[in-house]
Amino acid sequence: MDIYVLSIFPEFIQEYIKIGVIRKAVEKGLVKITSLNLRDFTKDKHRTTDDYPYGGGGGMIMKVEPVWNALKSIKKRGLTILLTPQGKLLSQKKLHTFSESDSITIIAGRYKGVDERIRTFIDEEISIGDYVLSGGELPALILIEGIVRLIPGVVGNYESVNTDSFENGILDAPYYTRPAEFMGLKVPEILLSGNHQKIKEWKRQKSLKKTLEKRPKLLKNAELTEKDKKYLEKIEKGDK
Ligand code: ADE
Repeated sequence: MDIYVLSIFPEFIQEYIKIGVIRKAVEKGLVKITSLNLRDFTKDKHRTTDDYPYGGGGGMIMKVEPVWNALKSIKKRGLTILLTPQGKLLSQKKLHTFSESDSITIIAGRYKGVDERIRTFIDEEISIGDYVLSGGELPALILIEGIVRLIPGVVGNYESVNTDSFENGILDAPYYTRPAEFMGLKVPEILLSGNHQKIKEWKRQKSLKKTLEKRPKLLKNAELTEKDKKYLEKIEKGDK
């Protein structure tokens, strides 16, 4: 997959992709990440990428020409995404869809907002949450990280990705690792039992319980079996 990022701080992107899972994916040739500096696509002496808004109002606006010039320079832009707090909320489902693209171009805004005409060049607007950051670089990295780990071959143990929180519409089960007892806190007996069927059932129940307690709205869209529903009814009634 080819990923392009348009930003005025390409260093942000270049530094982060040298680390961890993304670095491995790049080394394996599974993804190529190119960050372009929007200032390289300006024509004035000061390499200006922002300007005052027509009609007044506080804050500076990202100019349209550098963005368009940068987009034009990319041969295979693929899905073009603008990061903005006004976009659709990022979800695990969206990450899966994005991870199937051959190529993605991400525009990381800065300043108060972008010239509205930039929206005519893009396919999707994405927000990482209902809060405002100073720029789209961190959101871009979040998007890249979320996408790259879903590309087959990137994460060694694919089962681990499959059981992540949100993958099945609910939160992941609790995990424990050695030691079996720490300051009197014991790992649940069942996990040491070696009974895989029972462990699977226990994990499913814990996932459901956690989701009910922490993110109950997720259960509305989750795929639930009759057994799951019965279990949830039981704990809602106060039984364990
Ligand atoms: N840029 C600034 N804030 C943002 C957000 N919440 N999501 C995406 N891009 C942003």
